[in-house]
Amino acid sequence: MSPMQIDVVPDEPTLAVRAADAICTAVLAKPDAVLGLPTGNTPIRAYREIARRIERGQADFRRAIVYAIDEFADATRTTPGTNSVFYREHLRFPVGALHIPNPAARDANEHIVAFADALRRSGGFDLCVLGIGRNGHIAFNEPGSAADAPACVVDLAPASREAHAATFGSLDAVPARGMTLGVDDILAARAILVLAHGARKATIVRAAIEDAPSAEVPASWLQTHAAVTWLLDEAAASQLAPR
Ligand code: GLP
Repeated sequence: MSPMQIDVVPDEPTLAVRAADAICTAVLAKPDAVLGLPTGNTPIRAYREIARRIERGQADFRRAIVYAIDEFADATRTTPGTNSVFYREHLRFPVGALHIPNPAARDANEHIVAFADALRRSGGFDLCVLGIGRNGHIAFNEPGSAADAPACVVDLAPASREAHAATFGSLDAVPARGMTLGVDDILAARAILVLAHGARKATIVRAAIEDAPSAEVPASWLQTHAAVTWLLDEAAASQLAPR
């Protein structure tokens, strides 16, 4: 039986508030916390909520150290659709440091390995927040990723490239490769918060939580971690067995 905590809230706005609560609590407990923060549609509203709290003086992230958990390769820091651009657009509050892999790195593999080393040297994640891809990926650890998969360059799955076609402008414009922290870097986090909303995530959320852990669904490796919380809206939780 997995020790994971499953919190189900009615809708996406509530999920954003609860996610902001959890992230702000971690930073209140440890102002220089090392955070992994994901990109994607899922966390955008939570980031807006954190920014609002900071503006009102209810939170302070100025000592928090943020690491991106993945980035596209073979692009630039200003290519629309990259995570570099995402953080500029959506993480609109001051943090102590924001580390994002360089999509223009000449040797992407060497670069992401050094990036993961820097994360380890800074103490590793106090809290790693994750979204989940519809194929079960976490960060860019695509299906086939083992529990000890290290930071690496990956060939992006067709589903992952399709999910980003709109932000890059077209499917052809989406890079074929990504750089990702490994499943091992994520599982080394002291706490993990996974966010998912919407009916489109229901099938994969159920597989990740209820099926035996396997490389087929990388998010299922989270079952092997001692401090994971899933924060789901009712639609994303709709296929879970009653608990
Ligand atoms: C992206 C990112 C993941 C993210 C996931 C879900 O490709 N690499 O870190 O969590 O896909 O994205 P969304 O929140 O848009 O569904």
